[in-house]
Amino acid sequence: MEKEVKRFHEIKVSVLTVSDRGHRGEREDQSGAVILEVVDSNGWELLHYSVLPDERETIKNELMRLADEVGSDIIFTTGGTGLAPRDITPDATLEVISREVPGMAEEMRRESRKKTPHAMLSRAVCGVRGKTLIINFPGSPQAVREGMDVILTVLPHAVELLKGEVSDCGR
Ligand code: MTE
Repeated sequence: MEKEVKRFHEIKVSVLTVSDRGHRGEREDQSGAVILEVVDSNGWELLHYSVLPDERETIKNELMRLADEVGSDIIFTTGGTGLAPRDITPDATLEVISREVPGMAEEMRRESRKKTPHAMLSRAVCGVRGKTLIINFPGSPQAVREGMDVILTVLPHAVELLKGEVSDCGR
């Protein structure tokens, strides 16, 4: 148990809010704030937090930098997963990951669907770049809360698998 708690605390996290209006300072970043609360309450280490415009190259470059140079275990993004013309976060994510983790995105969508049919409109993806797990959330605080509830318990094991600390799932 003690070992589990220790690993849980070792998670290094970066947070990217993707929103044109947020980037221009016209909208308070409420969904990013929810992620920051979760980071804090779990005692994870916050490496980086910023608000980016919905620009594909900007998002890709920041995801690559936070994974490869900054060494994030997990990068959480929020926003830009829908169908509006400038919603391109999942597309930018797919261009920088080598492997998808579809089960995580599917399960979040499935659970959110129980609360709102609009959950179907999120194209959010989860995937791996090197030793970094990238997780997209939609851009609403409620969506982040509900998504986090779904994936929280598997994050420590996901990170230890990515780091090569365990080779099997022990069950
Ligand atoms: N999921 C949950 N749990 N709660 C929500 O309010 N909003 C939906 C969906 N997923 C929502 C949700 C809506 S309205 C849209 S358009 C898509 O996420 C994409 O949102 P985004 O473009 O802000 O990422």
